[in-house]
Amino acid sequence: MFSRLKEKWGVNWLQFTLIFTTFALGGSTCGYLGRKVLGLTQLEKGPLYFLLYLVLVTLLWPLCVLLVSIPFGQFPFFKNYLVRMWRRMGQKKKPTKIAVFASGNGSNAEVLIKHFAAGKNARVSLLVCNNPQAGVLAKADRLGVPVLLMGRERFLSGDAYLPELQAAGIDFIVLAGFLWKVPPALVRAFPQKIVNIHPALLPKFGGKGMYGARVHAAVLAAGEAESGITIHWVNEHYDEGATIFQASCPIVAGETPDSLAAKVHVLEHAHFAPTVESLLD
Ligand code: GRF
Repeated sequence: MFSRLKEKWGVNWLQFTLIFTTFALGGSTCGYLGRKVLGLTQLEKGPLYFLLYLVLVTLLWPLCVLLVSIPFGQFPFFKNYLVRMWRRMGQKKKPTKIAVFASGNGSNAEVLIKHFAAGKNARVSLLVCNNPQAGVLAKADRLGVPVLLMGRERFLSGDAYLPELQAAGIDFIVLAGFLWKVPPALVRAFPQKIVNIHPALLPKFGGKGMYGARVHAAVLAAGEAESGITIHWVNEHYDEGATIFQASCPIVAGETPDSLAAKVHVLEHAHFAPTVESLLD
């Protein structure tokens, strides 16, 4: 649970500890102040006292955490946190629009589309693909998800199809079997909002050219005892963004790239969608 929060906030463990301490100290300070203020009124402890206490604590809490955050160096984090909280309270949240980028068979894309179609506050509203022959296209069509088919040049050295992504109102990008490197323009436009899944335990067996059966063959050739999946943030380098989640599976005698791929797919289908969901605001 703590790791998920840490990833969601995009902070390191030191900052996470300082934030947690600020929450705890800010909370107890505002409780203390609330009791002091009510003490001045001579009110008996009863329903009215507790109602007023609740109102006071709600009003004092933002002020207390902001003040406590200053000596801990966390004022910018709490200022943003409170602004986002107030914004969210003021408006009915629109579902997060996810674009899934996939260029192959698309079994993960299918699981993601179905997961977010079922009563979640997020939708896969665009399937982005660079391969007109990809199996994922028929799946998107069957599931009623619009497709954006991309050309290499415009994606890698042009505007990265940002106008189309923005026009579709995309908030979050999930790479699920997408082989091209994500260009810097896209990483900058979606900070901490692009995730990828890799079919091995990074940092081993990642990087340029490490995809599909090649990954599993390399894992077996290295004599590893286990493999697995890594879900990670995307930066400008192949498979190098911070790890969000890993799960592993054992490698047994007689394992082949195909049998290993099947085990890895089981892990992917079980964990990818819930992990993405845990990252959405
Ligand atoms: C998955 O194994 C994923 O880890 C990798 O590409 C593969 C895509 O599989 N990035 P599928 O097309 O979703 O079946």
